[in-house]
Amino acid sequence: MKNYSKQLLAIKEYVSTLFADDVTGHDYFHMQRVAKLARFIAKKEGADLFICEAAAFLHDVGDPKLCTDRSHALDNMNLFLERIEISRKDISHINHIIDHVSYSKKLIPSTMEGKIVQDADRLDALGAIGIARAFAFGGASGQMIYHDHQVRHTSIQHFYDKLLKLKRMMNTKTAAAIAKERHSYMEDYVNRFFDEWRGTTFSDEMNDNFDLC
Ligand code: ADP
Ligand code: NI
Repeated sequence: MKNYSKQLLAIKEYVSTLFADDVTGHDYFHMQRVAKLARFIAKKEGADLFICEAAAFLHDVGDPKLCTDRSHALDNMNLFLERIEISRKDISHINHIIDHVSYSKKLIPSTMEGKIVQDADRLDALGAIGIARAFAFGGASGQMIYHDHQVRHTSIQHFYDKLLKLKRMMNTKTAAAIAKERHSYMEDYVNRFFDEWRGTTFSDEMNDNFDLC
């Protein structure tokens, strides 16, 4: 098996420069966690470790949420991959994964490696990290935590619009098992959020004689 450690090191440096200043939950550490999860799932499912790890590090390159010129970002990435001597076949596979991974596109990558990277990215939107990322993203895009009357564009609404649906959308068994546990932690969190929001964690005394305006 070919040793890709030099190429992976170069990819990490490339990605860490690209996402160094991100405050929306898509910083370099998101890429690192997705790569670690993808590698773990790939080992369990018998997929190509290099493709999974490399595509996981690169999966948010050119994301319209994060940059203004998608094709320029992808052209630069492809030139970089050629420069570090990644084969044409692997570059094309990595591009296929990047093009299919995003939740909003509602696509499923055709290869096992793509399915794994998609699972790994979705797992990082779940659990304690997922909760932190949702509020970071919400804050950075000017969204409120929650609102009693206009719930639609709040970060808590995002849990119902997307995050709590992810458990059922995993492609691999390995990811589904991790998602199940992270989902249940998140459900507990949302229940607790509403308990505290409504004051039901305290006795009725707290809510007595308090006029909401
Ligand atoms: P994708 O491109 O598949 O949507 P990403 O990994 O790029 O996935 O980013 C999605 C992250 O951004 C998730 O962690 C999610 O919680 C957060 N996010 C996206 N939209 C919102 C939103 N409207 N409110 C809160 N968080 C959001
Ligand atoms: Ni991502």
